[in-house]
Amino acid sequence: MPKPQSPLPINFDRVGYKPSKEFAKQAHIGSASELVKINSAAAKNIEKFWAAQADTLVWQKPYREILRWKHPRAEWFVGGKLNVSENCLDVHLQTWRKNKAAIIWESEDGNVRTLTYQQLHSEVCKAANALKGLGVKPNDVVAIYMGMVPEAIIAMQACARIGAIHNVVFGGFSSEALRERINDSKATVLITQDGALRRNEILPLKKTADEAIKKCPSIQHVLVVQRTGLPTSLARGRDIWWHEALAAASTECAPTSLPSEHPLFILYTSGSTGKPKGILHTSAGYITQVKYTTNVVFDMKDTDVYFCTADVGWITGHSYVAYGPLACGATILLYEGGPMCPTPGRFWELIDKHRVTIFYTAPTAIRAFMKAGDSWPLRHKLDSLRLLGTVGEPINPEAWRWYHSLIGRERCPIVDTWWQTETGSIMISPIPGATTTFPGTATKPLPGLMIDVVRKDGSSCKVGEGGLLVIKHPWPSMARTIFGDFSRYVKTYWSEFPKTKDCSGWYFTGDGAKKDKLGNIWIIGRVDDVVNVSGHRLGTAEIESALVGHKTVAEAAVVARRDDIKGNVLVAFVTLRNTSKKLDLKKLQKELKDHVGEEIGRFAAPNEIRFAEALPKTRSGKIMRRLLREIVSGNTITGDTSTLEDFSVLEHLRFDEE
Ligand code: PRX
Repeated sequence: MPKPQSPLPINFDRVGYKPSKEFAKQAHIGSASELVKINSAAAKNIEKFWAAQADTLVWQKPYREILRWKHPRAEWFVGGKLNVSENCLDVHLQTWRKNKAAIIWESEDGNVRTLTYQQLHSEVCKAANALKGLGVKPNDVVAIYMGMVPEAIIAMQACARIGAIHNVVFGGFSSEALRERINDSKATVLITQDGALRRNEILPLKKTADEAIKKCPSIQHVLVVQRTGLPTSLARGRDIWWHEALAAASTECAPTSLPSEHPLFILYTSGSTGKPKGILHTSAGYITQVKYTTNVVFDMKDTDVYFCTADVGWITGHSYVAYGPLACGATILLYEGGPMCPTPGRFWELIDKHRVTIFYTAPTAIRAFMKAGDSWPLRHKLDSLRLLGTVGEPINPEAWRWYHSLIGRERCPIVDTWWQTETGSIMISPIPGATTTFPGTATKPLPGLMIDVVRKDGSSCKVGEGGLLVIKHPWPSMARTIFGDFSRYVKTYWSEFPKTKDCSGWYFTGDGAKKDKLGNIWIIGRVDDVVNVSGHRLGTAEIESALVGHKTVAEAAVVARRDDIKGNVLVAFVTLRNTSKKLDLKKLQKELKDHVGEEIGRFAAPNEIRFAEALPKTRSGKIMRRLLREIVSGNTITGDTSTLEDFSVLEHLRFDEE
């Protein structure tokens, strides 16, 4: 395992940013001392702490046991029954929130559509009834392949309402990637749209989906949302327009009473092998922690307009768009388009127009805005904002400070939130009315969580010592398994620090980290073969396996190189099969990038393809990625070069086992 190396200029003595008096006064948790009290009470009795959060939910049947933990199998709120959708929608209908805006949606071309809680409830009920009409039952998997339209959230909530398990596949994935995710989950219904509008282009989602499901025997029906009017063919008996199916459906659909551990969704994420992992989340624990964290991390109030820029295809779009804010009765701004479209001022314009109060985005976007220039945000007042958030990768202090001054106008606290697809909810984050923040650290674990930075032998690291980030006690929104592969779940997350007589068995995050003397955790980055590119989590093995699927490629090794805007970019080293034909390497580079685009999605295509006679290997034949990483971060890179890498100079070196 590579040693974590710090990309951040960590200065433990830096002066922090305290929450302002005005912010603290109105916050749910408004002082450091209050937070200390909450933390210590939670640490004394973790289960009691989470039970108190679960008790804010509506239960159809009370639970008997808070946590049943048979390492590494966790069951939370055993014996209870509830419905997640009821807890996001119905709970508000008996209150004044009935007519409050749940979703304000703005399309890329500037049209606005608002759905109140009552209207959203009716749409979700209609969609739930339409799914039932197609034969969907509890535990059936429904794949959702859509852009950022309200129907994506309606579809997710409709599944939750009837106990179907949704499997949202990011709309940027290719037909191959969609097919793999549908087949692995054995989805019976697919919900998609004719096309998605993104960066002035129409992505033909239904066409891509048609290509995918040619080889998806489990799919029985396809529901198609008409968004763009793109000419679309419907297969008779299989495909149905969403609007027609919903027009015929009732606006009432009683929420199904489901056991706490009923699966809520599968979300595929990248790991260190070529095969994506279907992370499975369940109902009660997930919604408990997602609701709690939305409340305390975003300090969510009824007066807020909350804008999270994450796509519904990723975990942030699940927990902090489709579920958490609705469970809190918040107003969400949902934006369809790209951040730079038509100008880099689009988000700032949206914030002023809709009087957004809370803005949550990724460091990669912040760096791109920085690059686009200060004049874009400076044209806007941004005076409605009161809180900013980031997620997805470490934020470099320079970008943090820019965000703080240009967007937050030195008035808004920033919550740098660390979490993962697998954790389901935010785990490490400032509490904005209580925590002193420091640019570059997500600060401390939230109440009710036991997180540490440890050495390989499990002992806690000293201040400033790089180690591995682990979670030492189960938490309600933890992933329960990898769909269909419990042993991979155990191997990936629970075998680095297994249960022994000295260790209770800890969850390994895959991240390297350091602690400072105040107890703040500084995330250093992944220590496995997972890379964050523009906030997208990619497995290098997945891209390698796509590359070797090309007829010309013999071997491929993909490594990351740091990049000022994207965080990382990918560089692929490729050896070619023997051929008598003379290859045009420039052309082949483009072809290979396109090939990865087709196999996975354009966002996964390597930035550079470099050809080599052979890849440097250990004696046992393992590719020396460490060496390749060093090569790409050295000064020898000349951009997208078609020169043949010559590793022969290295051949006389004796490579130790990595
Ligand atoms: O390496 C960490 C990084 O993103 C990984 C999780 O990626 P994913 O499952 O796609 O979820 C992203 C959205 C929650 C982590 O293992 N990461 C996430 N947030 C942060 C972060 N690294 C540093 N700081 C963060 N705030």
